[in-house]
Parts: sequence; C-alpha cells; structure tokens
Amino acid sequence: TEISTDGYGDYDFIVVSNRLPVDRVTDASGDSWRRSPGGLVTALAPVMAKADGAWVGWHGAPDETLEPFDHGNMHLRPVPLSASEVELYYEGFSNATLWPLYHDVIAPPEFHRTWWDSYRTVNRRFAEAAAEVAAEGATVWVQDYQLQLVPQLLRNLRPDLKIGFFNHIPFPPLEIFAQLPWRKDIIAGLLGADLIGFQRPSDTANFLRCVRRFAGHSVRQQQVHVTGEDGSSYVSRAEAFPISIDVSQITELAKREDVIERSKQIRRELGNPKVILLGVDRLDYTKGISHRLKAYGELLEDGRISVEDAALIQVASPSRERVEQYRLLREEVEGTVGRINGTYDTMSNTAIRYLHHSYPVEEMVALYLASDVMLVTALRDGMNLVAKEYVAARTENTGVLVLSEFAGAADQLRQAVLVNPHDIDRLKDAVVNAINMPPREAQRRMRLMRRQVLQNDVERWSQNFLNALRMEGEQQ
Ligand code: G6P
Repeated sequence: TEISTDGYGDYDFIVVSNRLPVDRVTDASGDSWRRSPGGLVTALAPVMAKADGAWVGWHGAPDETLEPFDHGNMHLRPVPLSASEVELYYEGFSNATLWPLYHDVIAPPEFHRTWWDSYRTVNRRFAEAAAEVAAEGATVWVQDYQLQLVPQLLRNLRPDLKIGFFNHIPFPPLEIFAQLPWRKDIIAGLLGADLIGFQRPSDTANFLRCVRRFAGHSVRQQQVHVTGEDGSSYVSRAEAFPISIDVSQITELAKREDVIERSKQIRRELGNPKVILLGVDRLDYTKGISHRLKAYGELLEDGRISVEDAALIQVASPSRERVEQYRLLREEVEGTVGRINGTYDTMSNTAIRYLHHSYPVEEMVALYLASDVMLVTALRDGMNLVAKEYVAARTENTGVLVLSEFAGAADQLRQAVLVNPHDIDRLKDAVVNAINMPPREAQRRMRLMRRQVLQNDVERWSQNFLNALRMEGEQQ
C-alpha cells in the first residue's frame, strides 16, 4: 500500500480524471502502456516531472484491478470499475444524465436513482484513491463532469489538501440544471474545491446562479463563502480558464515534409477538387453533424455547389457506442450520408467522404492542411479543440474556419465565420461565403486567429489555473 506511516501518501501534485492518460498496447511481448493523445497530459507531464506527480484514473477496461505503476515521469494509480459500474456510473449517469443535461438537453437526459447511487460510489472510490497518494498539503486537480463529487469527498478526508476542479464541458443555465434531482449534492460536491474552473464566463455565471439558488451560501462576485456541516468555513472561487491545445505539436507536424506530402496525396485521391471542406468530430449529438449535412445536401440540391468542384470530408470518430442516443445518432448520420451520396455521387466524384474512424494526430494535421474550409457546427460545446487545431495547423495563414457561436472556442476565435447552426439558410450562406472568401480577407482573419491560439496554448492554460489555485490559499 502507498500509505506511509504518517498516514499521508508520497505525491505533491495529483491529477484525478475518469480516464488515465495512457492506452494499453498488447503485442507479442505482452502488455505495455502508451501515453494517449491529447493536450491535457502534454500540458501536465512537465508539471508532474517537476513536482512528484501522480495521476488517478480508470484504465478503460471493466472488472480489472491493476497495481499502481510508473510511466515516464508519472505515477499512475488505476481505479477499477466493475462492468455494472461502467454501465451505471459511466454510460448511465455521466453520459446519459449529465452529458445531455449540461449540453442544453439536445438529447433528453434520463434520471435513474440506480445510476446516481453508482455515481456516488465511484466518486467516493476516486476520492479515496487520491487521498491515499497525496502527500501532506499536496495539490489535487480534479477533472470534469464524471467526478463532480470528488472535491467535497476529498476535502472531508483530507482537509490539508489544496483542491482544484476543472469542468471541460459547459455548465448549464439554472433553469436546465434545476431538473436534476440531485442538484444540491452536485453543487455541494463542486464547492469542496478551492478553485472551480470553467471554459467560458457564461458557464461560471450559470454555476454561481445555481450556487445562490441551491446551496444558500453567500456569494460575492466569484467567491462563495462555504460553511461546512461542522461550522468551519472557507472560500471557494469560480473562474473561467478557456482550455487550449498543444500548439507546438500541431505546428511542428504542419511543417513536416511527410505530413505536407500526405496532405497533397489526400487532395489527389479525392480527384483534386477545387475546394475541400472538412468536419472532424467525435460522433456525438452535440456536434451538429446532422445540421451540417442538411445544409450541405441543400447546397448540392440548389446547385450552389457541385461534386465536381467540392468535396466534404467528414471524420466521425467512434464514441460511447453502447449508449442508446449515440447508436441512434450513428443510424441517422449514416442514413443521411448514404442518401446524399446516393443522389449526387458520380463514378469519379463523391459528395461526402464519410470516415467512422479515429486517426493519429499526423493524419489529422494532414487533413487540416488538405482542407480549404473547416466546418465546426456544434449545437453546444465546452470549447472545441478541433477549431483551435485547424487554426494552429494553417501555418501559411490560408483556409477559412466556419465556427458555431455555441462552442466555447467562439469566445477566442472572433475572426472565424461565426454561425448559428440552427439557422440552416444562414449556415448555407456561410459555407458559400467561406468557399468564396477573397484570399486577402481569409488571410487577415487566419493571421489574427493564429496569433490568439499561438499565444495561449494548453501549457499556459494549466499554469494560469495552477497559479490561481496557489493564490487561493495565500489570500485566506
Ligand atoms: C469529452 C469530455 C472528456 C472525455 C472525452 C471522451 O471531451 O470532456 O471528459 O474524456 O469527451 O469521452 P469518453 O467518454 O470516451 O471518455
């Protein structure tokens, strides 16, 4: 066990997230672990290396208990989930209750007491694991909606810790959050943190309104004065910290000869159309894929674009495939793509090249470089990092980004062609305008957006959050 004789663990900086930042690779020589793609782990690995860091999370397989192990400069502490917990806590409460509720009820959330019970049980297990590995006075940073009860549980177990929480997805308006039967428990869970981070100022404001209504603490500006059951009190603060990407990884790939060559090959293989449009999303109902396809299909029908001149590449990476709403969405999207292609394809041209795959980052950057117009039409999205990756990859300042105002990224990428994806006529006009945008105008916009993204990468994001968390204690 990792509990030393004084009752404290060994690690000064701990990240807690539903998934560990590693993927298992099995080959002839047995099992090994590879760091998973994604900016969060890239940003935090250096912090971990400096500070004796540990990461607490689920390793992705049901009914399997793994011993803690080291990987690179990180200590990994796997949290086991049973098959039934995967169903109730992960697929159920996290992804069929909270996910749709927090994304504007685009799909109807389901409320089941058995799912809630499992969410509580699993959150307690994560909190206990974090309490075990944390040294006295350590900093613990809890990530995302799957673990909203962990801050309070952890504070009760270990009042010596400094606790941060970051919500990667939107926080809903009070009128929607109010539906949740366990709304008070969630608010109390989050308020266990010294600092609660959100993507947008509007998420922060939504949260603070829910705190006033459902917790009854005094709220002054962004500070909540929390009084515990034992009468002790402390300040918990909410603030927006828009997340970003690993900029240097993307720009370095975008300049690599083989990646550039691959991007040209993609264009050739599509028959060198005048314009390539690109959509890249997890196959999720929040992403507005159906709205995008509707607009695109109508543009073909109206004759404003033709398959000879334009091709849309839609990458839809498989996601949460055992959750009902995701299965329904896949049926719908694939039906729509089939109908559009069946109507407009010729022997040599396709309307939509649809790919239900996920790809390594090298291939993603080649796709960004191959595409003249990037379509991000989310109905609701905490941030949308694809939009920022596209901008980072366009090192020549060419290309046009069409971006939904309902994505957090719209706060930073003001020079995108901003759209309301529900307004199909305006969306169609925006796509046509993007295709026909004069090169100088496109360059002016891309240059400004690139400046924004290059100056605010994910490392800066984590530094901003952790600096603010450090200051929290000093002010009290
Ligand atoms: C979103 C969430 C993450 C989650 C990811 C992939 O980005 O904010 O917490 O890890 O989707 O979803 P999954 O359910 O496969 O972990």
